[in-house]
Amino acid sequence: KDRTKIRKLIESAPEGSQVTLMGWVRTKRSNKNVTFIALNDGSCIQNYQLVADPSRISEEILKKANTGACLKAQGRVVASQGSGQSTELLAERIDILGEADPEKYPIQPKKHSMEFLRENAHLRVRTSTFAAIFRIRHHLAYAIHKYFHDKGFFYIHSPIITASDAEGAGETFRVTTLDLNKLPKTEEGLVDFRQDFFERETNLTVSGQLEGELAAMALSDVYTFGPTFRAENSNTTRHLAEFWMIEPEMAFYDAEDNQDLAEDFLQYIISYVLTHCKEDLAFLDKRAAEEEKSKKADQRSDLGLLDRLAFVVNNRFVRITYTEAWEILRNSKPNKKKKFAFPIEEWGTDLQSEHERYLVEKHFNKPVIITDYPKAIKSFYMRQNEDGKTVAAMDILFPGIGEIVGGSQREERLDKLSARMEELQISQDEMWWYLDTRRFGTAPHAGFGLGFERLVQFVTGMGNIRDVIPFPRTPGNAEF
Ligand code: 4AD
Ligand code: MG
Repeated sequence: KDRTKIRKLIESAPEGSQVTLMGWVRTKRSNKNVTFIALNDGSCIQNYQLVADPSRISEEILKKANTGACLKAQGRVVASQGSGQSTELLAERIDILGEADPEKYPIQPKKHSMEFLRENAHLRVRTSTFAAIFRIRHHLAYAIHKYFHDKGFFYIHSPIITASDAEGAGETFRVTTLDLNKLPKTEEGLVDFRQDFFERETNLTVSGQLEGELAAMALSDVYTFGPTFRAENSNTTRHLAEFWMIEPEMAFYDAEDNQDLAEDFLQYIISYVLTHCKEDLAFLDKRAAEEEKSKKADQRSDLGLLDRLAFVVNNRFVRITYTEAWEILRNSKPNKKKKFAFPIEEWGTDLQSEHERYLVEKHFNKPVIITDYPKAIKSFYMRQNEDGKTVAAMDILFPGIGEIVGGSQREERLDKLSARMEELQISQDEMWWYLDTRRFGTAPHAGFGLGFERLVQFVTGMGNIRDVIPFPRTPGNAEF
């Protein structure tokens, strides 16, 4: 009840006021006369200094106030002698709430490798870096809701368990309660999911888009924001098996309206955190600058983290078609000698991440929206263009990240949609509910999906997507 958070204290603590702090010890240093404890309670990046004088605080207590221990400190705010902050707490009483054995506590005040911290994901949020990342993650989520709410969009909760594979990529995680030892079989010898909980085969959702489309055909402007799951076996710094996706879906939007919204939205949420997370971003900016120094000269980026964010907020995104991108790539060499590992020769090949990075980081040096992809490399629901070869798709590529957004105008014409599903052998019987939107009061509409962790990665400058979600799920990794 009487607790003051450090953030509040730093903002407005009159000298002489009596306060109670609770938090975790980051460091302790002592000399003959006095002990200094740096306390952090997660409310902000700064630690608050406690000054403990052995005449008031027993030696036994001070001995236990080690890095990682949790304590309650009561005392008086006084002007600080040191240069770091303007005030400090002259401790009158300290209670140890939870000890941390210095021989065993893994998070010591020194530089730990990211691998080591991933192995200690249950404790890594106690470091300044991870605490800053997760505070920024929170503010980004808040900004996303605020943006859509202020624009009159409604937040739709799409189901986690579904019977469809919205992206048709076959990367779903199956959901079942069947006993593996006595799986029921059909006459053909296949697993009989009719005897399972949902009386059919089900999986974790790969996208909330299809349900978003249903809602947009009544509420006009909606968005989902939830976890999505993909069993793609890619061990990269950009892929998770469980990631969060934001999927707005808008009735009466065409492809260009969709691009305009995506650009405005990304610029809004990034400028929101530039305003509201200044201290955490300044900390990560310094961290990113340190990381840059350890890179080879030709791999260093010219812009710092904060410059990169400001750049995205202040510059229009480049918009080009797939065909234009293909022309550029066909006539480019990534650097003097080397060719692309996957040469771009034929029109119609999908862009690999090396191509995307070349376009964004070398050729344009700006975020790029690529539109009108060949229909063969995109999903069944995308609206077919007049040329018969391309669809009204868009991908947004960001420097250092590659694809951050994927979206499209949707095929609202029943005959075209059903012909495409036929071609791709997607069962129209099973998707009857989706096709009903086209049967009854169909309307032009469009939407996109933003990968939340890729956004957090861009904003925090972290090199690996596993470091921007509290408990990453990747192949072979689900311990915490
Ligand atoms: O391009 P994707 O697959 O598009 C969709 O799922 C559409 N249903 C979106 C829509 O139009 N409503 O995924 C969208 C975004 C990607 O651009 C990427 O940022 C992110 O989701 N993403 C991943 N992020 C982390 N790990 C993965 N395995 C991801 N797969 C996609
Ligand atoms: Mg995509």
